[in-house]
Amino acid sequence: MQEKSEEKVLSKVQKEEDLEKLSTGQMAALCSNLARGCEKQYKEEETALFTKLASYFSAISPEVKDATVEKISEELQEDLKAYPSLRATADAAEDRGAARVCVWGEKATRMLSSLLNRYQEEGEKMFENQEIWVCSICGFVYLGNEPPNICPVCKVPAFKFMKIEGGKI
Ligand SMILES: [Fe+2]
Repeated sequence: MQEKSEEKVLSKVQKEEDLEKLSTGQMAALCSNLARGCEKQYKEEETALFTKLASYFSAISPEVKDATVEKISEELQEDLKAYPSLRATADAAEDRGAARVCVWGEKATRMLSSLLNRYQEEGEKMFENQEIWVCSICGFVYLGNEPPNICPVCKVPAFKFMKIEGGKI
């Protein structure tokens, strides 16, 4: 059953038009996400390897000089457009794990987009008297004094949330 599922995925992935060269920043994000996925499955060795790859790609990524809130907001909208196709591919391959990641990713991206819209209206005031928390598993972002007891997207407990300190995790 798993072999048949892998064949379906490979036949889809190997189409030349489906292949896309990723930037070093995209590779860093991809490897970081894979590390989180492995962490959630208690695969320590794979977690360490993907974390190392993410650090490597992050270190060689050029600084984005024209990054603005508006540009990030546009990028998030582009990401959201990709989810129906990603979900359809995951469903066609009967890959429940990939389908679940698509659901998490879309929810976390929609929430982040909503927070960015709010930031564009309120500015730094929206951070007054509250902390920023990020779910280390799915990327869900939360504003509050404490992290939520359970991530509303991927259901991990509060200790999996990381507090953003001075703009960094
Ligand atoms: Fe989460």
